[in-house]
Amino acid sequence: MTDGHPYRVRMTGISKRYTPIQTLDNVTLTLKPGEVLGLVGDNGAGKSTLSKVLSGAVIPDSGTIEIDGEVVSFSSPADARAAHVEMVYQDLSLCDTVDVAGNLFLGREPRRRVLGVPFLDTKAMHAQTRDMLDRLGIVIADTRLKVENLSGGQRQSIAIGRAASFEPKVLIMDEPTAALAVAEVEAVLELIRTVSARGVSVILITHRLQDLFLVCDRIQVMYEGRNVAERRIEDTSIEEVVNLIVGRKFSARSARHGLDRDTETGVSA
Ligand SMILES: Nc1ncnc2c1ncn2[C@@H]1O[C@H](COP(=O)(O)OP(=O)(O)OP(=O)(O)O)[C@@H](O)[C@H]1O
Ligand SMILES: [Mg+2]
Repeated sequence: MTDGHPYRVRMTGISKRYTPIQTLDNVTLTLKPGEVLGLVGDNGAGKSTLSKVLSGAVIPDSGTIEIDGEVVSFSSPADARAAHVEMVYQDLSLCDTVDVAGNLFLGREPRRRVLGVPFLDTKAMHAQTRDMLDRLGIVIADTRLKVENLSGGQRQSIAIGRAASFEPKVLIMDEPTAALAVAEVEAVLELIRTVSARGVSVILITHRLQDLFLVCDRIQVMYEGRNVAERRIEDTSIEEVVNLIVGRKFSARSARHGLDRDTETGVSA
């Protein structure tokens, strides 16, 4: 599972400047096979930008990315996909007017030839979609439903299912549970457990701090474009994470005073 390397992903010295802001300043990130890493930080801390560097959507000014010990250089999401890195973006990038199966197969629909002419093999597509959904435990009654008619949680599942169907080694999810109802959040978290149990390494970006404690092995906190802390999940608490995110030094006193509201809602603003 480890391909002989301790790290599936190792990003070192990653910097990116969007004048006038140093969005990423010498950032490091490591990820082991099958590990779920929670990436947290206040709005604008640089989480999405760092993830996009790993998914090939943003090209850093400097820094190195290694996948399974090999240095890679991504200049597009296609490059990252070829290295088995997939990202589910915050906006999901689904086609609303296309059905579930069509979205899962977007751009690589199965074809069959009739008298030498290629036709879309819709039967195969729907059967394979059903298989994929079942394997991931995604509950959707009909693969012919248009995505615009699905719930937020189902849409999120389809976006994750699509990413998972490329057989990634690394799956990055940017705020996958932000807009979901309670049961839908649980379904997405279960999906994260399912893929990580298969050895996929997951980066979960979230402001819902309670989710971190349900699926993550480790968390990494960013503050104004820099790494500020890293904790194994069993060695930290929601109070400490809140303090690290807002840049306060953690103390038992601040955990007791004035943090109850933050702790319940996460720190999304
Ligand atoms: N394409 C861009 N052009 C200019 N500035 C950018 C660009 N992308 C990001 N930034 C800036 O970089 C900083 C970090 O943004 P980023 O989206 O990575 O933060 P984030 O941690 O994901 O925040 P949030 O939790 O709000 O999603 C912000 O100040 C943002 O305005
Ligand atoms: Mg973001």
